[in-house]
Amino acid sequence: PSKSQMMDESCKLSRADCRAKGGAPGFKVAILGAAGGIGQPLAMLMKMNPLVSVLHLYDVVNAPGVTADISHMDTGAVVRGFLGQAQLENALTGMDLVIIPAGVPRKPGMTRDDLFKINAGIVKTLCEGIAKCCPNAIVNLISNPVNSTVPIAAEVFKKAGTYDPKKLLGVTMLDVVRANTFVAEVLGLDPREVDVPVVGGHAGVTILPLLSQVKPPCHFTQQETEYLTDRIQNGGTEVVEAKAGAGSATLSMAYAAVKFADACLRGLRGDAAVIECAFVASQVTELPYFASKVRLGRSGAEEVFQLGPLNEFERDGLEKAKKELAGSIEKGASFIRK
Ligand code: NAI
Repeated sequence: PSKSQMMDESCKLSRADCRAKGGAPGFKVAILGAAGGIGQPLAMLMKMNPLVSVLHLYDVVNAPGVTADISHMDTGAVVRGFLGQAQLENALTGMDLVIIPAGVPRKPGMTRDDLFKINAGIVKTLCEGIAKCCPNAIVNLISNPVNSTVPIAAEVFKKAGTYDPKKLLGVTMLDVVRANTFVAEVLGLDPREVDVPVVGGHAGVTILPLLSQVKPPCHFTQQETEYLTDRIQNGGTEVVEAKAGAGSATLSMAYAAVKFADACLRGLRGDAAVIECAFVASQVTELPYFASKVRLGRSGAEEVFQLGPLNEFERDGLEKAKKELAGSIEKGASFIRK
C-alpha cells in the first residue's frame, strides 16, 4: 500500500476508536471462541445489536479473518480481533460483558460431560484472564458441560478474590428457546407468545421444563407432558445426531446466546423487569448452583426466583435433576480446588 493509503487506513482506525470511546452509547462486549460454530453467527448477531459499541472477537484460530469479515457490516459497533493467548488480556480489558462459547462440541454418542477433560482447562484459562483484566464484567458461560464449567469459573474467581455470584451466568437459554418452540407446536401457537420456564441445569435429566407454569396457561395430557419433557431434554442430542459428527447446535445457540446477552445488556442499562432463566449461584434448592428465572439488572442477576408450585411429575423430575447436578457441580469445583 502507498503511504497515503496507509495514512487513510490509520485515520479511519482512529476515528473508529474515537467513536467507540467517546460518543456512541453502548456496551463493550468480548466473545471468546469467536471463530467457532457458535462464535461466528454470535459475532454477526452481536454486531447487529444497537446496545453494543465495541465488539472484541478472540479465538486461538482464525480470529483475524472473522473480524475482517464482520467489521464490514455497516452497523454501529466497532469490531476488533485478537488471536491467541498472548492477546487475551487486550481482548478482555475494559469489557462490560464477556460471552464464552470456546471449547469442543459433542459428537454422536457423547454426553456433555465427555467434554469436561478439554473444556475445563479452556474455561479455567479464560476465566483467569477475566479475573485479571475485567473482574467486574458480566460473564455468559456457554461452554459445556455448563453444569460443571460454571462452578469452575466461580472457583477461579474466588481464588483471584474477584467472585461476584451475580455476575456469573451459565447460559441455558437454548433450553428455553427449544421449549417455547416445541410447546408452541403442540398448542398450535406462535412460539413468540409462549413462555416456558426451564430450571435445573443444562444436560439431560437436569433440564427440567416446568410445563405446569407455561404462559399462556394451558393443560397437557400425560402423554404430551412426557413427549415434551423428553424432547426438550434431548433437543441437543437431536441436533448432534442430525449433524452426524459435524458438531452440535450452533445457529439456534447463537440466536439463544444473543437473546440472553441482549437481556443482560438491557439489565445493565437499567431496564426494569428483565427476567430470563440462567444457571447461577442459588439458594432455591440445597445445591450451590441451579437454573431458574433471574431478574437481570445493573449488577447482573440481582434476584433469583423460587421455582413456584410444581406438580408431581415435576417434583419427581426435580429429584432426578438434583441428583445428577450435585455430581457435576462437585466435579467442576474440585477441578480447581484440588
Ligand atoms: P467449535 O469447535 O465450532 O468452536 C469452538 C471454538 O473455540 C473454536 O473456534 C476454537 O478455536 C475455540 N477455542 C478452543 N480453545 C480455545 C481457547 N483456549 N481460547 C479461545 N477459543 C478457543 O464449537 P461450537 O459448536 O461453537 O461449541 C462451543 C461450545 O459450546 C461447546 O463446548 C459446546 O458444547 C457448547 N454448547 C453449549 C450450548 C449451551 O446451550 N450452553 C449449546 C451448544 C453448544
